[in-house]
Amino acid sequence: MTRNVEYGILQTMKRKKAVITGASRGIGRAVAQILASHSYDLLITGKDPDRLAKAVTELSQSAEVHGIAADMLDPDSPEMIINRAEEVLGGIDLLVNNAGMSFAAPIEESTLADWEQVMTVNARAPFFLSKAALPLLRKSDSPVIIQIGSVVSIKGYENQSIYSASKHALAGLTKVLAREVYHEGIRVHLIMPGGVGTEMSVTMRPDIASNEMITPEEIGEIVLFLAERTGKGVIDEIQIHRETKAPWD
Ligand SMILES: NC(=O)c1ccc[n+]([C@@H]2O[C@H](COP(=O)([O-])OP(=O)(O)OC[C@H]3O[C@@H](n4cnc5c(N)ncnc54)[C@H](OP(=O)(O)O)[C@@H]3O)[C@@H](O)[C@H]2O)c1
Repeated sequence: MTRNVEYGILQTMKRKKAVITGASRGIGRAVAQILASHSYDLLITGKDPDRLAKAVTELSQSAEVHGIAADMLDPDSPEMIINRAEEVLGGIDLLVNNAGMSFAAPIEESTLADWEQVMTVNARAPFFLSKAALPLLRKSDSPVIIQIGSVVSIKGYENQSIYSASKHALAGLTKVLAREVYHEGIRVHLIMPGGVGTEMSVTMRPDIASNEMITPEEIGEIVLFLAERTGKGVIDEIQIHRETKAPWD
């Protein structure tokens, strides 16, 4: 065991295995970077194969990194991703359900197709990824699932009805999953960020200046902290935002 001074936590030197969805850019890419630098080998996913291949090449400088291009709209993607993780990593210690899509429109301009697409990517895919990963996580000494929700997992902003519904759904399934697997030692966490400086926030949070945004690296640090902590206390959810009012105000 060595002490990781930067994060003040005990960290084993044994390499761990993580699956991170949507890690070709944005928050997922930053999560992948920090995990790759802290003894994790990775399977990362993305929709665009070229962008994914570039991320795999860059990340491979610090860890064993594999990529699988998979569209979360495809119902077969969750199982395909987890099967690939077993094949190339030999198991999973950490699943980070990060891939997501934004959508902003007033309710009256939102269509059935919009609903189906956003709910599928942001809620259905993490549900089935978590389900498919459980048999492999049960074989891990320190199994963790981390879901990337949003402040709109609890709040609601104008023009974000479908996006907000999808992130509320993710919060709901996470609460149930956390209870269902708690006694098997599998920890399940929900991180709920406010505006993070990525391509997505340009459309979703035009009200926040880019230099005021939370950085993707800050979310990466929280993921690492949650993945590595060993205490008895349960952390259900972490909200990180830049507003001065409490979320329930
Ligand atoms: N940015 C924010 O302000 C913010 C705040 C709260 C929560 N979040 C959440 O954080 C997560 C990451 O957001 P981000 O800001 O990093 O977004 P981003 O920069 O737009 O990146 C999204 C990632 O998800 C992948 N993805 C999108 N649609 C997909 C699909 N249909 N199938 C497979 N992969 C897909 C993208 O792959 P490609 O590169 O191939 O397109 C990319 O890797 C999302 O769940 C988002 O809802 C973001």
